Amino acid sequence: MIPKRIRDIELSGIRKMFEMADENTINLGLGQPDFQPPEDVIEAYKSAMVEGNNGYGSTYGLSSLREEIAQHLTRYKSDITKENVLVTVGATQALKIALETTIHDGVEVLYPEPGFVLYEPQTKISGGKPVPYPVEQKHDFIPQIDELEERRTDKTKGIILNSPGNPTGGVFPKKDVEKIIEWAEENELMIFSDEVYEMMIYEGEYESFLGDYENVIAINSFSKTFAMTGWRIGYLATNKDWLEQIGKIHYYNVACPPNPTQHAVLYALKNRLDFVEEMNARFKDRRDTIVERLNDIPGIDCLKPRGAFYVFPSFDYDISSKELAMKMLDKGLLATPGSAFGPTGEGHLRFSYANSTENINKGMDVLEEVIKEIS
Ligand SMILES: Cc1ncc(COP(=O)(O)O)c(C=O)c1O
Repeated sequence: MIPKRIRDIELSGIRKMFEMADENTINLGLGQPDFQPPEDVIEAYKSAMVEGNNGYGSTYGLSSLREEIAQHLTRYKSDITKENVLVTVGATQALKIALETTIHDGVEVLYPEPGFVLYEPQTKISGGKPVPYPVEQKHDFIPQIDELEERRTDKTKGIILNSPGNPTGGVFPKKDVEKIIEWAEENELMIFSDEVYEMMIYEGEYESFLGDYENVIAINSFSKTFAMTGWRIGYLATNKDWLEQIGKIHYYNVACPPNPTQHAVLYALKNRLDFVEEMNARFKDRRDTIVERLNDIPGIDCLKPRGAFYVFPSFDYDISSKELAMKMLDKGLLATPGSAFGPTGEGHLRFSYANSTENINKGMDVLEEVIKEIS
């Protein structure tokens, strides 16, 4: 018999919408860059296989890749080394084993709502109790300490954070990161920081949760950075004690991360950061287009996010986000209803601008039409 804990978990709302689209739909629902990895990175992948890197690798990941990642992370924590880095099968698996290792029955974990679809079910699967905290447009989608504190009990042992945020695009400024770390430290909470959009920042600097506080597990991925969501390489970085424990669970989870792919990611990190810059420049232009178009539509209010490739406008109409998304889908535009990211996402839509400017404009024409009809 299937345990209730598993039966109660629902299929992600993003996936449900995705299944309803056809090939003519303008897809502003995608959670992945509409680019391909650079050709020489694809060549590096092929070469890795031809050169015989097709067997099991180290559970912890390719040593040279761990070193390169650690080198990159020294900008946030100067003493980080490869011993602090574990290569994983995407951020999805990184977060899964981080929670599985550190959370036990009855422990409460705070997570952002609206927030990415992994947090609630993964906490439950680990035996923990997920407790949502709000991230609201009126606060630029940044968690507020008083609201976190209201939800903290003596069973709270961890908090999941996500900046730049999916679905909101919210990026935490330095002062907020510092305040949250201070509060977590005071209350001896584990920080699970989902930093998969770390390199997709359009203004200002990225602020990581990695630093002096030891109880941080930073989760990251190359999925978005190098437009390789299907290659399934991510990583986590944390202190050596946690890493050793998580490493054990990692082995029993996947044995090791995919071997040839890691060689290609290493090549990309060493040689093709220019690709990320170019992609970001394109995303920034598209962001400006979509934000302007959205704010021109009566009853729609959209912040200009500093990172990732999502906007999360609110709408002031008496219709649910799901109904509104269905009306758009009828006219050939796919976006994700805010409620797919938790009940407090109601009243919002998530648009991904990982699509051409032409399609973004066409999509906004559809939204304009639908809004005229319902208003
Ligand atoms: C915030 C966030 N975390 C994690 C993931 C999962 O990334 P990965 O492909 O590395 O598993 C995604 C993917 O959409 C995401 O948006």
